Amino acid sequence: MITQQQIEATLKAMFEDLTFRQEPEGLYDPLRYMIKIGGKRVRPRLCLTAFSLFKDEFTQEILSPAAALEVFHSFTLIHDDIMDKADVRRGVPTVYKKWDENTAILSGDVMSIESYRLIAKAPAKALPKVLELFSVTAAQVCEGQQYDMDFENLEQVEMEDYIKMVGLKTAVLIACSAKMGALIADAPKQACDLLYDYGYDLGLAFQIADDWLDTYADPDVFGKAIGGDILNNKKTWLLTRAFLKSDEGTRARLLDAMALPTDTPQQKEAKIAEVKRIYEELQVGKDALEEIVRLHTRALNHVSALNLSPERFALLRDYANHLVGRTK
Ligand code: IPE
Ligand code: IPE
Ligand code: MG
Ligand code: MG
Ligand code: MG
Repeated sequence: MITQQQIEATLKAMFEDLTFRQEPEGLYDPLRYMIKIGGKRVRPRLCLTAFSLFKDEFTQEILSPAAALEVFHSFTLIHDDIMDKADVRRGVPTVYKKWDENTAILSGDVMSIESYRLIAKAPAKALPKVLELFSVTAAQVCEGQQYDMDFENLEQVEMEDYIKMVGLKTAVLIACSAKMGALIADAPKQACDLLYDYGYDLGLAFQIADDWLDTYADPDVFGKAIGGDILNNKKTWLLTRAFLKSDEGTRARLLDAMALPTDTPQQKEAKIAEVKRIYEELQVGKDALEEIVRLHTRALNHVSALNLSPERFALLRDYANHLVGRTK
């Protein structure tokens, strides 16, 4: 059986071995920059983990598609940082800040293409399903990102709208990562689908945690600026929940806070502080942590139907614990 340690070692080697074309540097340096700094790599880790439930060793046929998930994800982050006006990611300047917007757009494009090249190395038998899954997922991520931006201009959204948006922008790629590992391992259809559901619920929990961290994380650990969602009037889980719990007076204060100016550093600080004050009153931070626990349990319930050996189930349990217990 493939162990947790093997998964970690394989992930590490995978990104050390991943090389990209050299020239023009303006196109490929940002790509190397993103992949080298490295994020948490939760998507390739999940793909390898799902594969490990059904196979006893890794081959290139799983490694390349797993890497593709990280390359694709990193592409979405480069474009996301332009859209969200974010200056810092993974503890370093974002690509559009270090270079410029045009560089970030084009490097992102080539990363998206590179991810397809890597996906195409999936075994021939699984390739049609893998390509279809990946293509549908990639389009869904764009749909989610569009809703995310559309929502910035709305006063408020319903929780249902929030879940639809984050389901698309975040959860489907995590779900796809789990299912892809199973598809490449030639697992039964029902197992592939249950792993998708597990990934989807973990993905929802992951984005709610991301929203929570955007307001409450330790900035040195988080690697991103704190309060960016508040400044952008993002319809996060916290804000959506706050509206849900507000009486008329609190709702008016929230709307006033969202309309505050953000031109100077002092104004930014004041807006973040005011929104956080309302969040404290309504206790929405605590609610978010409870919702994350609920989704974590729901994710594990999906895969309990797989009837895995205790050792293999532990891989899924440890992955889920790691994902929702994150501090960055
Ligand atoms: C950030 O993803 C974007 C979200 C979907 C929340 P990660 O938190 O996986 O970012 P990295 O890859 O670890 O930097
Ligand atoms: C990003 O959501 C989701 C995608 C990149 C598809 P966020 O905008 O919340 O991600 P961060 O916080 O910038 O990493
Ligand atoms: Mg965003
Ligand atoms: Mg962002
Ligand atoms: Mg975020």
